[in-house]
Amino acid sequence: VSYRLPIFKIQKVLEGKNMSYTPTPADKFTFGLWTVGWQARDPFGDPTRDALDPVRTVNELAKRGAYGVTFHDDDLIPFGSDDANRRAHIDRFKKALTETGMKVPMATTNLFSHPVFKDGAFTSNDKDIRRYAIRKVMKNIELAVELGAKIYVCWGGREGAESESSKDAYVALERYREAFNVLGEFVLDNKYDIKFAMEPKPNEPRGDIFLPTIGHALAFINSLDHPELVGLNPEVGHEQMANLNFVHGIAQALFHKKLFHIDLNGQRGPKYDQDFVFGHGDLKNAFFLVDLLERYNYDGMRHFDYKPVRTENDNGVWESASANMRMYLILKERAAAFRTDPRVIEAMKNSNIPGLTESTMNSGESWRDLAKDNFDVDAAGKRGYNYEALDQLAMEHLMGVKAN
Ligand code: GCO
Ligand code: MN
Ligand code: MN
Repeated sequence: VSYRLPIFKIQKVLEGKNMSYTPTPADKFTFGLWTVGWQARDPFGDPTRDALDPVRTVNELAKRGAYGVTFHDDDLIPFGSDDANRRAHIDRFKKALTETGMKVPMATTNLFSHPVFKDGAFTSNDKDIRRYAIRKVMKNIELAVELGAKIYVCWGGREGAESESSKDAYVALERYREAFNVLGEFVLDNKYDIKFAMEPKPNEPRGDIFLPTIGHALAFINSLDHPELVGLNPEVGHEQMANLNFVHGIAQALFHKKLFHIDLNGQRGPKYDQDFVFGHGDLKNAFFLVDLLERYNYDGMRHFDYKPVRTENDNGVWESASANMRMYLILKERAAAFRTDPRVIEAMKNSNIPGLTESTMNSGESWRDLAKDNFDVDAAGKRGYNYEALDQLAMEHLMGVKAN
């Protein structure tokens, strides 16, 4: 792998329209209906906002430059709707999509709200519940395909436990795998052009959730009958709830070619799932995340999975939607400025950053050749890496400080 510094592409960012921070559909920004639509019900308080009509959400997001919307089955079609009502909800949604040009690149299933899922869906101890959960997913995959979605997210929010006595975690993984194998067969048999993206989360709403991090999910995917059908939808806040470095997690997902989708939002440290606006949490990590996604040409959706805070009224909801997109574009510009600054390029050389791209072994060498090295261990141990100077430059670019 070569050292990625596509200066030309980055300079186009600096010269281009993005300097205005005005989002356009080309930026591939998408939002879940449940994000702006969150009525701000929490464990301590009632909703502070009215329900949003999905049609209005499509129109408002289109006006603000989004590319598309995503949904859980129950966000669009109230749980328990009969077939005629279901069709009516779908048809008026499709009309709004056609009128605005908004796309539906992803859909997902609500396997967590109804009490039937209180002990899990694919990993419920009850076989009938597991079968019902798979049916619910299949039904919404058919709708996702109808709407042109290419990614199907699976967040197993209720797949977990509050105590080890209640659930055999080993057996639960067998049932989890079985569900994905059945769903994979369903997609292949129907020749649907759609892939799954699993979304890890360490806890909330369960005390502990199975497949809690990117790493756990990557290993699980490799145990499936069709691992090529399944990738990841990592969420910023979820890895940070586990005190992990999201940029490193995303680098590994890219490394394994498993970054199928991404949930962008903000989180401040390991605590409850805050779902703040993107960048309104760990800003430095958000800066390096956008830097990573852009340098590695991530070509999927930039999907915001956030919740407008409970204090906001309708106006604040739309302000916060725009803030997500604006944060991404600002960070994209700041990262490009960092990468192209001659002082940074020099500092990277001083820090030997490009050295990591050289393979450790020269071509044709084997382990036998390592014995031939004439290496001064003490001199190498005394070397300074100059990372502090480089990091300070990164922080100044992030803060928009101009040279001197
Ligand atoms: C969360 C999750 C959800 C999922 C969504 C998709 O609230 O912790 O991030 O928002 O992303 O339900 O299935
Ligand atoms: Mn979340
Ligand atoms: Mn999410």
